[in-house]
Amino acid sequence: MKQSELLATLEPETAKIDAAMRADLAGIGSPPLLEILEHAIFNGGKRIRPALTIFAASLSGAGTLPADTYRLAIAFEYLHAASLLHDDVIDHADQRRGNASANALWGNSTVILAGDYLHARAFLLAGTTAGAQCLDLLGRATAAMVEAEFLQMDTAREANRAEDNYFAILRGKTGALIAAAAEAGAVLAGASARQRAAMRTYGGNLGLAFQLVDDLLDYLGDPRLTGKKVGNDLHEGRMTLPLLIALRQAEGEDRSFLEQILSLKSDDRAAQLERVRGAIERNGGFSATRDQAAELIRTATAELELFPPSPARQVLAALAAYVLARKK
Ligand code: IPE
Ligand code: IPE
Ligand code: MG
Ligand code: MG
Repeated sequence: MKQSELLATLEPETAKIDAAMRADLAGIGSPPLLEILEHAIFNGGKRIRPALTIFAASLSGAGTLPADTYRLAIAFEYLHAASLLHDDVIDHADQRRGNASANALWGNSTVILAGDYLHARAFLLAGTTAGAQCLDLLGRATAAMVEAEFLQMDTAREANRAEDNYFAILRGKTGALIAAAAEAGAVLAGASARQRAAMRTYGGNLGLAFQLVDDLLDYLGDPRLTGKKVGNDLHEGRMTLPLLIALRQAEGEDRSFLEQILSLKSDDRAAQLERVRGAIERNGGFSATRDQAAELIRTATAELELFPPSPARQVLAALAAYVLARKK
């Protein structure tokens, strides 16, 4: 399936996901809360996580969708949106999806509360649509995300360069939620244990690749497409895989430059973005990161072989390819 076909297939699903969220948020009594949530949710998100739930349910249920699929799917978009609200506070980010971030507009306190509201709502939706099994999935994914944020903070403070440590962060902060979104669709559709495990592995690997590409886009992306500033990871002192690989490979001048960059103050470090990018490029950091993302996508896609060919299987394969090619 070509990318244009994928996007055409996703469009009506996105509309249904958005309609489900609008209906769900209609009962909110607090206008300022609603304003923050609308900004956080109806603002150009790609809806990858709920789409995974929907197509995993369709795949496992051989084409028919359980009635509650969309209400379960939006629980994952809520958790995602909550994590971005909180993430932009933690990362001091003033832009998201091409607009001012919610924290830049309304301040940290109200935005943290709005994120908490979405967490509560997500758990309510999962519990009422799919019961204890999906509550368990959401709970584990949320806990993993929080632990990964702590690990990421320790890692930055200690300037830890171990790549397995970096991957542990990725598994928690991005892989866990995407794996849960795919697995939940399988659970709702009554999948077998093997099918469930396949969806989890597919989602987990897709999620890791997704974050590797995000870390590439942080250096190489076009802000007009990503809607985020380039160089934020460098500014915040986060050593992502492109830099870790370059640090491992570099010799001579590149090596001493990259070594000292880590001890600079954040604004001075950010001012060196162009040179850091050059050093990473020369030492293969970007291409090796891209290769690893491609390998993860191959692993994810191989899990789909467990299922007979179907339109949903084609969509999930195309989504995996899209994650690698995405520019936003
Ligand atoms: C961004 O996720 C945050 C990461 C996990 C890297 P997305 O790129 O899926 O965000 P939206 O919802 O489409 O903006
Ligand atoms: C994304 O992490 C947020 C979570 C996965 C919780 P990052 O901080 O790395 O991503 P962006 O660049 O802000 O979207
Ligand atoms: Mg972050
Ligand atoms: Mg961030």
